[in-house]
Amino acid sequence: MFCGDKATNRTDNRSLANTSNTHCMNDETLNATRRDFLRFLAASPALGMAGNALGQSLADPYAPQVIRKASDAINVFDFHEVIKTQLRNGHYIYMATGADDGGTVRANREGFKKIQLRMRRLADVRQVDTSIELFGQRYPIPVMLAPCGSQKAFHPEGELAAARAARSRGIEQMLSTVASTGVEDVSEARGRPIWFQLYADEHWESNVAMVRRAENAGCPVLVLTVDNIIRNREAVDRYRRDSNPECQVCHAPSAEVIPQKPMLAGLPDRVGNRLFMNWDFVDRLRATTSMKLLLKGIVTREDAMLAVEHGVDGVIVSNHGGRAEDSGRSTIESLPEVADAMDGRLPIILDSGVRRGTDIIKALALGADAVAIGRPYLWGLSAF
Ligand code: FNR
Repeated sequence: MFCGDKATNRTDNRSLANTSNTHCMNDETLNATRRDFLRFLAASPALGMAGNALGQSLADPYAPQVIRKASDAINVFDFHEVIKTQLRNGHYIYMATGADDGGTVRANREGFKKIQLRMRRLADVRQVDTSIELFGQRYPIPVMLAPCGSQKAFHPEGELAAARAARSRGIEQMLSTVASTGVEDVSEARGRPIWFQLYADEHWESNVAMVRRAENAGCPVLVLTVDNIIRNREAVDRYRRDSNPECQVCHAPSAEVIPQKPMLAGLPDRVGNRLFMNWDFVDRLRATTSMKLLLKGIVTREDAMLAVEHGVDGVIVSNHGGRAEDSGRSTIESLPEVADAMDGRLPIILDSGVRRGTDIIKALALGADAVAIGRPYLWGLSAF
């Protein structure tokens, strides 16, 4: 019975429904009334205005809300809503969009949704160990921070703030070649040397210089990104006019601005040409460093087998969060063939589109050892 219910929003709904003599209604009557009301709303041209006292959309009760503080977040998507209202258009578009018209960005999420879980019951799960071990390091959860460049575009403390967050949760952080802070400072903020991601350069000496710098900082793992060689980012090009020259440093890398990135400081002039990359380059890099070497961007069985042959230490199944090319295939759909080819020989990390705990479970069930996230932590960084 609903009589005397103290929940004020329930009372609001009841009066909204405008039923007479409804001071006492059973739940079934109330539900029917509520359903009628929702149907009315769905047909109403004022649908966009519909909301309850909390500002929640009644038409889509799952829709994220613009929260006022981080602790109000129900899930990571709530941070995304906040940043849409806060970031400059250019920065938002740079972060959110992908190659061509964003088909792979969408596919990454849809790929996870296509997979359903079979729930086994009656297992005692009071003591669950979610930890993993990778390259001799134990992590409490199988989640890492993917390398994302230019984080000061999202928060003045950029990668340093992300490092402190990673430290507080004991998780791994991969630092981008085009980060807005150098590997030494970020490692210090993380509390131990982090993993360094390399965008290869056609000048071999530049690669060696970056590798040596990462080694000197104590980085145990080098992540070579092998996708994103050339890309068509229509949304970024369209909104570029909104950016001021300072912003161009972040999301319009060019021969003039790229040397301003801390990890590229002092290197010979470069334009970031990666068209030359092939397996010979991987061999050369392998022979140059004793750091563990991961290839980021492997999405096929054939390349996974080649990765093993060329002596790398692991792969990251990634399509750069849909930013590399508009293939339309999600990483979670690419994972089974990579896992099959690897046959447990090397660790596999998966990124692109991971947003929920169930996504992580699906990735682990299909053969990944861990996942990495990109945009969700940039949303957090940008929001408050
Ligand atoms: C990236 N990513 C990326 N990858 C990389 O190897 N080097 C880099 O510098 C960057 N920079 C970068 C910037 C921004 C704004 C984004 C959103 C992404 C790709 C990143 O490492 C990762 O593959 C994806 O972000 C994972 O997908 P989700 O979690 O963002 O969907």
